[in-house]
Amino acid sequence: ASAYETVLVEKRDKVALIQLNRPKALNSINQQVIEDLNKAVLDANADNGIGAIVLTGSNRAFAAGADIKMMEPLSFSDTYMGGLFNDLENITKAKKPIIAAVNGFALGGGCELAMMCDFIYAGEKAKFGQPEITLGVLPGAGGTQRLTRSVGKSKAMEMCLTGNFIDAQEAKQIGLAAQVFPVDELVDRAVAVGQKIASFSKVAVALNKEAVNAAYETTLQLGLDYEKRLFYASFATKDQKEGMSAFREKRKPQFTDE
Ligand code: CAA
Repeated sequence: ASAYETVLVEKRDKVALIQLNRPKALNSINQQVIEDLNKAVLDANADNGIGAIVLTGSNRAFAAGADIKMMEPLSFSDTYMGGLFNDLENITKAKKPIIAAVNGFALGGGCELAMMCDFIYAGEKAKFGQPEITLGVLPGAGGTQRLTRSVGKSKAMEMCLTGNFIDAQEAKQIGLAAQVFPVDELVDRAVAVGQKIASFSKVAVALNKEAVNAAYETTLQLGLDYEKRLFYASFATKDQKEGMSAFREKRKPQFTDE
């Protein structure tokens, strides 16, 4: 039995596999999903035995967006005062990397959730889109911002203004997805990459993640300076000594995350 109503969590060696599980509504995102997802990510992030997180859905849908039936009656003040979908962003605070393994639909908030992860692997049948325009609204969880930074203005504008979906190959071609895998292999391949990441120093992994993310927030020179500070800081870790002495001694490093 799962500790959560709308997500399933499975520990596979050093990887936490978190699966959205609200099949009746194609994993559409309501408050319960946000709460469950945040708690599952927080728990995995705090677990010393876990080095990476894979977030997935079902073969039919990663997530078909925010829950439209939940949103329909809301007023401006409901959304504004309640900070609708603000909490979904909390998963981006995790130090440990999150890989999105997207099979099926990643639409609206589902595409936005995938983009909150550190990178995206797509199954061959995956479909990505920001169809909010068809509902008389616009993306509200990063679709106009993360998508534009990820794929550039022209493609992001086209997707937001038409609501058209793109397939897995196109998602890879434009840099939204890092790789495409057969549907049945996707989750295992993502978990295997997660295991590889989890074999490295957790501190080094977190520093790498933080530095790449800084590129999204700042100018080139400030980003380069930020990277240098983190790079220099990595020399304060035992894992730097271990990694480099293991190279010199031609043996496998034993990282202790210190
Ligand atoms: N919210 C609530 N329910 C949803 C849903 C959503 N986003 N997406 C699908 N469902 C429900 C359907 O209502 C349906 O339920 P019922 O059987 O009770 O009618 C069930 O899931 C299955 O869906 P369909 O019958 O529609 O399945 P399909 O295979 O014919 O179509 C689909 C699949 C193309 C994904 C279609 O369901 C669809 O277009 N969904 C909505 C996609 C969308 O517009 N997402 C953006 C939401 S807005 C948003 O996300 C705001 C934001 O930026 C934060």
